[in-house]
Amino acid sequence: MNFLISDIKQYQTIIQKILKYDDGPNVIALVGDLGSGKTTFTKEIAKYLGVNQNVISPTFIIHREYLTSDIKKTLHHLDLYRLDHNFELDEIGLRNLVNARNVIVIEWADKFPKYIKSLEKIKSVQITWVNLEYIDEDTRRFSI
Ligand SMILES: Nc1ncnc2c1ncn2[C@@H]1O[C@H](COP(=O)(O)OP(=O)(O)OP(=O)(O)O)[C@@H](O)[C@H]1O
Ligand SMILES: [Mg+2]
Repeated sequence: MNFLISDIKQYQTIIQKILKYDDGPNVIALVGDLGSGKTTFTKEIAKYLGVNQNVISPTFIIHREYLTSDIKKTLHHLDLYRLDHNFELDEIGLRNLVNARNVIVIEWADKFPKYIKSLEKIKSVQITWVNLEYIDEDTRRFSI
């Protein structure tokens, strides 16, 4: 499935479809170049989940977490851009984050495809891979 998005508000409908509101964990793996809109999309997820805090890019601190309006759910926002080794993901504790309480959004997930795919087996979760591609200043191709 792919869509051309030229208004950021359009992400809300997509998010509603891809977030599974059962008891399972949600892992969204974002792939796309610099400026393709990974953080922007994550901000829309935060909005959808009723996060009150301002969501800022975690590029330098790698992992930020946010309370949502549902006390049972926490949003975890990771950016793997600055990481190069699997052990760094172990140190963050990514595996342990994958549980029913968490919505986990990972920017630059394609840097660690095997590691991230391995979470599916370990935690029996279906990861949603999302690709974002720059089309023009206001438009991105969103594929899933
Ligand atoms: N349709 C769109 N979808 C997403 N972002 C858009 C769109 N149109 C314009 N933009 C703009 O493109 C920029 C995307 O920047 P953003 O920080 O989200 O990218 P990123 O993929 O997270 O980059 P990085 O790899 O540096 O983390 C924002 O300024 C956003 O407002
Ligand atoms: Mg970003």
